[in-house]
Amino acid sequence: MKVGSLDIGQAIMLAPMEEVTDRSFRKICKRFGADVVYTEFISAEAIRRQVDTSLRKMRFDDDEAPVVVQIFGNSQEAMAEAAVIAASCSPAWIDINFGCPAKKVAGKGAGAALLKEPDKMVAIAAAVVRAVNLPVTVKTRLGWDRDSINIVDIVPRLEDVGVQALAIHGRTRSEMYRGVADWEWIRKVTEKARIPVIANGDIWSAADARAMFAETGADAVMIGRGAIGNPFIFAQARELLDTGRVVTHPDYRDRIAVAVEHLKLSVEFKGEKYGSLEMRRHYSTYLKGLPRVSRVRDKLVREPDWRNVIEILQAYEVECEGYEREGKIRDYAEFLNDHSKRLTLNY
Ligand SMILES: Cc1cc2nc3c(=O)[nH]c(=O)nc-3n(C[C@H](O)[C@H](O)[C@H](O)COP(=O)(O)O)c2cc1C
Repeated sequence: MKVGSLDIGQAIMLAPMEEVTDRSFRKICKRFGADVVYTEFISAEAIRRQVDTSLRKMRFDDDEAPVVVQIFGNSQEAMAEAAVIAASCSPAWIDINFGCPAKKVAGKGAGAALLKEPDKMVAIAAAVVRAVNLPVTVKTRLGWDRDSINIVDIVPRLEDVGVQALAIHGRTRSEMYRGVADWEWIRKVTEKARIPVIANGDIWSAADARAMFAETGADAVMIGRGAIGNPFIFAQARELLDTGRVVTHPDYRDRIAVAVEHLKLSVEFKGEKYGSLEMRRHYSTYLKGLPRVSRVRDKLVREPDWRNVIEILQAYEVECEGYEREGKIRDYAEFLNDHSKRLTLNY
């Protein structure tokens, strides 16, 4: 797959996720083989007003590249201006969010709300394409609700104004994150589109990534929730696609080691206070399915000093060695395959 002059092959991408895909998590996913990583979505209005927290979300290091900066908004002017500022950070390309279902975004006429106003959506995309010399892509959903699925009609219009790829989450806005993503509709999009299509929704394992390529005919796939607490999925998916078998099998030691690495990076980039506070939401995903974990989780989210957090994690690793000897540790892949458990991973 090519975006502009960038050839990224049969790419496996990290999906944009608010409060998740920050520098620390992007670096980790990149290290495990994500071919392209996205920033969290960033408000065009906030970029325009030079709000520091928003500008910071656009920063990245060379070792994360290619990085895509994603912006959202509902006016052509704000989006074009924000795109110019985002382009000054030299991302691989700029992505427009036309898929966010959250009230704070869609309720203000941005994100998925633009699926109800295709003319405006296309005008915004055109304005952003005109404003920057970088490729521009769009990430969206199938439509507003099941009765108004309109993505197949919108795609040619986005192509006509110069959008260079489309990431499609196989749900409607009304479905939020419920049910299962509709890969058949993604196939309809790939059949219609002339630009590359990035398929997204419910890839929870390497086998899912392979199936997504096969069932949708997409040029690339994008993994969101399945990577939270499980960045190993990128290595596994790549192995399966390239060699037909998975050799990366993380155990509790690997998972705890990545949690520690994530915490250290978070503290490095966000400082001791926010870096450790923001990590609290991640511990449960890194430790999910391990024996007697709730007690440890409670300790972790109460501990103010990140150095002590590392000690708690290391002590738990030793505890897990005991559980392992007693045969109480379940294989992680098997755990993730258990559908009911998988749903509880919904973030
Ligand atoms: C916590 C969270 C935050 C998200 N933030 C964004 C975002 O900033 N921009 C965006 O386009 N999609 C966002 N999404 C949607 C994901 O990118 C993705 O489309 C969706 O989760 C479906 O893919 P998955 O089944 O692999 O998770 C978010 C999803 C989650 C769970």
